[in-house]
Amino acid sequence: MTSQTHDRLLIIDFGSQVTQLIARRLRELNVYCEIHPYQKVDDAFLREMSPKAVILSGGPDSVTREGSPRAPQSLFEMGLPILGICYGQQVMMHQLGGKVESGHGTAEFGRAYVTPTGATLDILGGWFSEGREQVWMSHGDHVSEIAPGFEVYGTSPNAPYAITADASRHFYAVQFHPEVHHTPNGARLYENFVRMAGFEGDWTMGAYREEAIARIREQVGDKKVICGLSGGVDSSVTAILLHEAIGDQLTCVFVDHGLLRKNESDEVVAMFRDNYNIQLIHADETELFLGELDGQSDPETKRKIIGKLFIDVFQKHADTIEDAEFLAQGTLYPDVIESVSFSGGPSVTIKSHHNVGGLPEKMGLKLVEPLRELFKDEVRALGRELGLPQSFIGRHPFPGPGLAIRCPGEITRPKLDILREADAVYIDQIRKHGLYDEIWQAFVAILPVRTVGVMGDGRTYDYACALRAVTSVDGMTADYYPFSHEFLGETATRIINEVPGINRVTYDITSKPPGTIEWE
Ligand code: XMP
Repeated sequence: MTSQTHDRLLIIDFGSQVTQLIARRLRELNVYCEIHPYQKVDDAFLREMSPKAVILSGGPDSVTREGSPRAPQSLFEMGLPILGICYGQQVMMHQLGGKVESGHGTAEFGRAYVTPTGATLDILGGWFSEGREQVWMSHGDHVSEIAPGFEVYGTSPNAPYAITADASRHFYAVQFHPEVHHTPNGARLYENFVRMAGFEGDWTMGAYREEAIARIREQVGDKKVICGLSGGVDSSVTAILLHEAIGDQLTCVFVDHGLLRKNESDEVVAMFRDNYNIQLIHADETELFLGELDGQSDPETKRKIIGKLFIDVFQKHADTIEDAEFLAQGTLYPDVIESVSFSGGPSVTIKSHHNVGGLPEKMGLKLVEPLRELFKDEVRALGRELGLPQSFIGRHPFPGPGLAIRCPGEITRPKLDILREADAVYIDQIRKHGLYDEIWQAFVAILPVRTVGVMGDGRTYDYACALRAVTSVDGMTADYYPFSHEFLGETATRIINEVPGINRVTYDITSKPPGTIEWE
């Protein structure tokens, strides 16, 4: 779908692992861009899309190989500013009359430093203030002869043509990847490029919202959509966006497996039914889930039981919605990349993650995934745009199997009740101390041990619990949060005083790896 109201930037994708990051850098500049695979981009496509500027991405192929990807030759005659990156740079040189060679010991991977040649170039404003710039290289081939009209503006030890340009035509070509984190000043280069090209930076989340709504309407027509709601940010934003787009054609299904936190189920239902007037099936399946989990203590068995029941129950309720043709999912861009295995083989399963994957095929439904192009923080921004309260948007992640994996050993109702209370006190403490937003995730795990204590003049024999709080960027690695001793002492005292059934509190200081964030 193409924005009708904003200037458009076209990213021609030659298959680089980091093409999405180019889009991300541009969106941070409020520039509307679209990524399209090179196979799709021909003369007719260019005419119809009518971009204001074009970026040629990197890619794994070699322009020296016959049949390797190219840009349409007409692109270079349209008078548009073009920025070529890595493979994109080589395509540009090759198609404009320069030369690219393979290997010969000039491959460069990882950090490198580019030094200026002295000539000034508009898109290099703010660069080279320290005499050189750190960049991230990843290339086997290299340009050995630049195309007519081009000049050199930056060189690195293994890339004499690290930055070249034909300034009169606004063609720019760089060997490195300015979109990655390891090119610290890379965003500046994109900013200079889009400003030079005349973009006003008026594409915002508000605009994304409008466009996503139009796209949903176009895809769904007058058919019905089912959306599984967990109360997490992704499924909530998906549901609210869909509701704005198609109103009562949407029904949400919220499966309550009896493993939610204190008041969670009421909060989710109130939020969607009362505040947003969304049609919601609240499936209270506590008996079913806790019944099947009774006596089970193996972590994988618990996860598998929950995962299977979840699908059965979701399907049972979804089947009551007549003529549903679509299933909405809050799939994010990182889920899309993670679904591709580059190792070529199955990786070890640490935990069977629980989600509704596999449902659409089983139920014969088509997918609506309006967040597929977004990163997590963009989903949060969209949520804000849709009016979701900050308390909802900033929530810590909560795993699909819920409290089951925070209750090592057998799950019993009394233990779940104790856990809910302790967790509520802990989170309250964190909020009161203003630490909630600094922490990626925090929770209590109730341990399958009882210990002896003394309260008042009496002996106690109650459960021990562990507090967990971690910092993380993506949940893949994590470090424990360095609470002060005062905070820990105060929290332990509050939990023991306020939660009958717990008489000992410990703090888990394991990082990930070697630990995982959850206890099971
Ligand atoms: P671990 O425990 O593997 O967790 O370090 C990493 C992140 O994933 C969450 N998690 C899950 N999320 N379904 C989910 O949707 C699951 O089955 C699941 N298991 C763990 C965990 O809470 C942490 O944020």
